[in-house]
Amino acid sequence: MNKNNIAEIIKNYLATTNQTLTDDQMILLAKKIRKPMWDWHIYFGYALVGLYSLRMVLPFFGEMKITNPFKVTFNTKQKFQYGLYLVFYVGVAVSLITGLIIELGPKYLKEQMEEVHELSIYYLLTFILLHLGGVIMAELTNKQGLVSRIISGKSKSQDELK
Ligand code: HEM
Repeated sequence: MNKNNIAEIIKNYLATTNQTLTDDQMILLAKKIRKPMWDWHIYFGYALVGLYSLRMVLPFFGEMKITNPFKVTFNTKQKFQYGLYLVFYVGVAVSLITGLIIELGPKYLKEQMEEVHELSIYYLLTFILLHLGGVIMAELTNKQGLVSRIISGKSKSQDELK
């Protein structure tokens, strides 16, 4: 549903019928076609803004503190893991802020913001793959039962913590 892909389909079709539109008109048409589906993205986007704000406020109440990846006691793997979380938080913040500016901000910023916002897919997919890989690796090595605990929401038993 990428607007450029849809515009390309329209362009190829019009070429077979000897009609033409400017690139801007084709992008506009592409956006209109995908609008009903894209509205959902925007509703979820607003919900995510709420959830993200909650996540950022919780540490001030002593809950779910964000771990500093540069702790000297951390080994390389831990530094990578917590560093990745930090990069992810920054990436999500950029997506949310640019998304909000596209929707609610001044028109003259729209195009630049769209260009940055569209890059979201790259960090998001990379993070999901690395995160899943990390969870599977941990489950198979030093954190057996991690997946069940993620699903059930239960923390480690006292025996396991010893
Ligand atoms: C983590 C949060 C988000 C991610 C990962 C994300 C991801 C994306 C991606 C990859 C696109 C490009 C789609 C394409 O043109 O092919 C897109 C477009 C868009 N997003 Fe988001 N988005 C997020 C949050 C938001 C929020 C909060 C809003 C607004 C409230 C928003 C509004 C939009 C709009 C209006 C477009 C269409 C822009 C255009 O036509 O080029 N997004 N988003």
